[in-house]
Amino acid sequence: MSEIKKIGILTSGGDCSGLNAAISDVVKAATLKGWTVYGIHNGTEGLTERPLSYEILTLRNFSDTPWPKVAGSYLGSLNKGLKPGQMEAVAARFAEGVKELGLDAIVVLGGDGSMSVLKKYCAIANIKMIGIPKTIDNDTPLTDVSLGFETACQVCMESIDSIETTARSHHRAIIVEAMGRDAGHLALRSAIAGGADVCLIPEIPYTIDGVIKKLKEVKATGRTHAVIVVSEAIKTEEGDISSAFKNMVGEKVYGGIGEYLMNKLSERYDEFQIRNMRLGHLQRSGYPVYQDRIMAAVLGAYAVDLLDEGKTNVMVGFEGGKVTYFPLEKIASSPSTTVDIHGTYVQTALKLGMYIGEI
Ligand code: F6P
Repeated sequence: MSEIKKIGILTSGGDCSGLNAAISDVVKAATLKGWTVYGIHNGTEGLTERPLSYEILTLRNFSDTPWPKVAGSYLGSLNKGLKPGQMEAVAARFAEGVKELGLDAIVVLGGDGSMSVLKKYCAIANIKMIGIPKTIDNDTPLTDVSLGFETACQVCMESIDSIETTARSHHRAIIVEAMGRDAGHLALRSAIAGGADVCLIPEIPYTIDGVIKKLKEVKATGRTHAVIVVSEAIKTEEGDISSAFKNMVGEKVYGGIGEYLMNKLSERYDEFQIRNMRLGHLQRSGYPVYQDRIMAAVLGAYAVDLLDEGKTNVMVGFEGGKVTYFPLEKIASSPSTTVDIHGTYVQTALKLGMYIGEI
């Protein structure tokens, strides 16, 4: 048994469905060990801003409320980076905050970026850290899957289903723009599950002519509507990332490539009217589906057990379907997971006749 008495928990980066379930499960498992759980508000800000912002979490916060079953983060999250040169001062304030609360360890729900930053902060604060991967992008290295991805796929697939009814009525081809940053997992899996005709992802180059050819094939079968799914980070035909702008700290912010595609297709093709729908942050909503709820339980309980065993600087996750943990060092040095262009999902899309680019 470890010497742990007080742990902190925080959510960092873009929110997703399943976070509250995981917070609740960490609270349950930690309470059984007699630990006090400090819920840190708004990502690291609860520890770096003054006054500190946190609350002590007990089973009452979750057991008789709907919180574990809804999306979003009960604690609030922070999805903005730091300007160059800010890191040291912020890390020092984080360490002071940790000391003031007397925390022995911290559980971080975050993506790979958050894991790397928090690893540095926790080293400076001399505190144990366990990460739980979460992101609708499903691009966290090493783990098979991250919390929130399955629900995002569900939301995206249901949107494809919903938009198809109006596409059918108006004989249109409707573009659905999915999130996912530089990985096409979310777009590709929901396109396959939703039966889309075209899916464009950042990992595979495409041509406008290729999309038009597919739309013509659809039309030739007698069907009078089509659905095109695009991942937010695909480039223009010329290879530009026209949809991305950089925010104040130099991070790329995606969104809008569907609009580009709608204009390009409409210039060259008129058998279907083209419309575009950007799903945006809706993809982070939705009641957590079974897979995310069970994942929250398995990873939350396991994270607490690992802390009790004295482990630190690891991220829990799944490998070959089995729960395990990975050193944060390895997470930081591994590339984000992108779609394997020779893998199951690309092959499935091809076998089903979907146009997924020039492959
Ligand atoms: O990383 C999760 C994610 O939702 C991406 O899919 C998307 O590009 C980005 O966050 C959007 O971030 P923000 O909430 O800052 O607009």
